[in-house]
Amino acid sequence: MDHYRTIIEPFRIHAVEPIRLTTRAERGAAIEAAGLNLFGLHADDVLIDLLTDSGTGAMSRDQWAAIQHGDESYAGSPSWFAFLEAVTELWPFRHVIPTHQGRAAEKILFSVVGGPGKVIPNNTHFDTTRANVEATGAEAVDLVIAEGRDPSAAHPFKGNVDIAALETLLVARGPDVPVVFVTITNNSGGGQPVSLANLRAVREVCDRFGKPLFLDACRFAENAWFIKIREPGQADRTVPDIVREMASLADGMTMSAKKDGLANIGGWLAMDDDVVASACRNLLILTEGFPTYGGLAGRDLEAIAQGLREVVQDDYLNYRIRSTAYLGEALDAAGVPLVRPFGGHAIYLDARALLPHIPPLQYPGQALAVALYVEGGIRGCEIGTVMFGHHPDGSESPAEMDLVRLAIPRRTYTQSHIDYVIEVVTRVAAGAADLRGLRIAEPRPPSLRHFTATFEPVA
Ligand code: F0G
Repeated sequence: MDHYRTIIEPFRIHAVEPIRLTTRAERGAAIEAAGLNLFGLHADDVLIDLLTDSGTGAMSRDQWAAIQHGDESYAGSPSWFAFLEAVTELWPFRHVIPTHQGRAAEKILFSVVGGPGKVIPNNTHFDTTRANVEATGAEAVDLVIAEGRDPSAAHPFKGNVDIAALETLLVARGPDVPVVFVTITNNSGGGQPVSLANLRAVREVCDRFGKPLFLDACRFAENAWFIKIREPGQADRTVPDIVREMASLADGMTMSAKKDGLANIGGWLAMDDDVVASACRNLLILTEGFPTYGGLAGRDLEAIAQGLREVVQDDYLNYRIRSTAYLGEALDAAGVPLVRPFGGHAIYLDARALLPHIPPLQYPGQALAVALYVEGGIRGCEIGTVMFGHHPDGSESPAEMDLVRLAIPRRTYTQSHIDYVIEVVTRVAAGAADLRGLRIAEPRPPSLRHFTATFEPVA
């Protein structure tokens, strides 16, 4: 079917969920009541919810069937062994520690290896990852290549780590670095992939400095697909084979199964190091649960096990990456400034370029996200100065970029939903000059402010 342009969703719809149309006046009132923060909306008031691709996807028939096999034994459940087998088929680490979601894995790991005076490099820390590093008193440093900081730069692997910068950091602060992290795909940088060549280079640097390499692997299957279609010499490999090579280059991982686990909840922490794993398991028992279920029910472990088998299939990944690019290509053709090339799980609107009259400290991304909701009931997410501009010492500075992420839940919306999104974004972009900046109302939240801050228009 290579010669047809239409992207075929490789599934039929088996159960439908209603979504509700609202009027512009209703949406205006709803967002006003939410303090101009899209996290504060009642989701029934959202028509197309592109807030996140995390836990919002549709599960397959076979995942729902697997849920019926869920065994809720406290210890040693067969569902745990099904989960363990599916995880280690792709990620053969010696220790797999289930958690209720990705940030629980981060919290446990950084509680063990972080702490005051430590520094954790990453291509770009996601917000919860940064917050979990900083919560231990450690410092989170972003070392993505220069192209990864430039929304319009063309590069097939904009998530790559700047190898020279990593070496410089390790020379200067080697003893303070407990672990080197790489996020695949680099969510905060636009959902951009990391190449195998770059992972091999990071591994080589880690070996030279005696440092463990961990992957934040939330979107590993999408990253592997980009490797398959973009990296020289990788086209004939299977996705599981590429994933296993990524695993072989790393010493451990954190994972949110809410992304490429194709599940609505779940995650894990995995590693080879016996000593760190033992310390992590002790914390797990304190905060999440017994090591054979973590924070999950047996049925969740089953859903993840089946999801991991589905997420590495070529038809799924081709549809996933092509359908995300479809949104990007149409908005690009309409002249909307975007992060290029298109990421795997989301299209990122460049709000700073679209709204040059709104300074970064008046949150152009937030202003654009609010406008998309009021115009068409679309909920995106600011990834910019609201999310990243606030520092532990209370100061504020512009983030690298001011983006609005339109994240695409997996297997959830059809092409006509996306065609509608294209129309709404195009109309809002045409009226961009009329949008105004925002400021954060008092009281200001102390951290992770994008979740709870309320906003008011700048006079
Ligand atoms: N790492 C990355 C790269 C992520 O994108 C996320 C979550 C996490 C870690 C944390 O995982 O949500 O299961 O605790 N990202 C979601 C998002 C929330 O919308 O991008 P979690």
